[in-house]
Amino acid sequence: MREFSADYLTETRRGMWRDRDALADLRLSDRSRILDVGAGTGEFARVLAAESSAPVVALDADTTLLGHTADGAAHRVAGDATRLPVRDDACDLVACQALLINLPEPAAAVEEFARVSSELVAVIEPDNSAVTVASTVAAESALSARAREFYVDGVHTDVTLGADAADVLADAGLRDVSTTRH
Ligand SMILES: C[S@@+](CC[C@H](N)C(=O)[O-])C[C@H]1O[C@@H](n2cnc3c(N)ncnc32)[C@H](O)[C@@H]1O
Repeated sequence: MREFSADYLTETRRGMWRDRDALADLRLSDRSRILDVGAGTGEFARVLAAESSAPVVALDADTTLLGHTADGAAHRVAGDATRLPVRDDACDLVACQALLINLPEPAAAVEEFARVSSELVAVIEPDNSAVTVASTVAAESALSARAREFYVDGVHTDVTLGADAADVLADAGLRDVSTTRH
């Protein structure tokens, strides 16, 4: 499993959800129980909790990271995204942020999300091929783009999944799939 430090997660998420328009379709104020899978230090769980009065459960395979979620999630659960220790239809929203791009079998996790959610599944995933570097140094942008190509080709999971996450949701049998760019 790919590992992340708490510092990396808190630094890279700073300001990410200052604008929350992309979360409108989740109708967070109407939710009754939310599960954030691959919650890490709880950066996204805290956003969910701020926008909803529902309890937010943070789940992650890394218990050290989970230790940082204390002020954002009502409950913490250690577990595997592809075998959730949660009963069928236990939540009305199952969400994840930057989880599927790290899984060798993202479809297995999405199938689990569909099993434990009675209503909505939301996946917030990046397209890491879309990162560009602007530089005043000649050739640096092109060199960075080339390095990124090698990274995307060499990594063993689909780090571009966010370019079209609708496919993985539809393949898992979910209906009424929509996507928003954030
Ligand atoms: C890039 S971090 C994202 C953390 C958090 N969602 C965020 O955006 O700040 C990916 C997280 O997924 C967790 N993870 C990876 N594979 C997992 C699995 N099979 N089951 C549960 N969690 C997993 C990692 O421990 C890590 O916390």
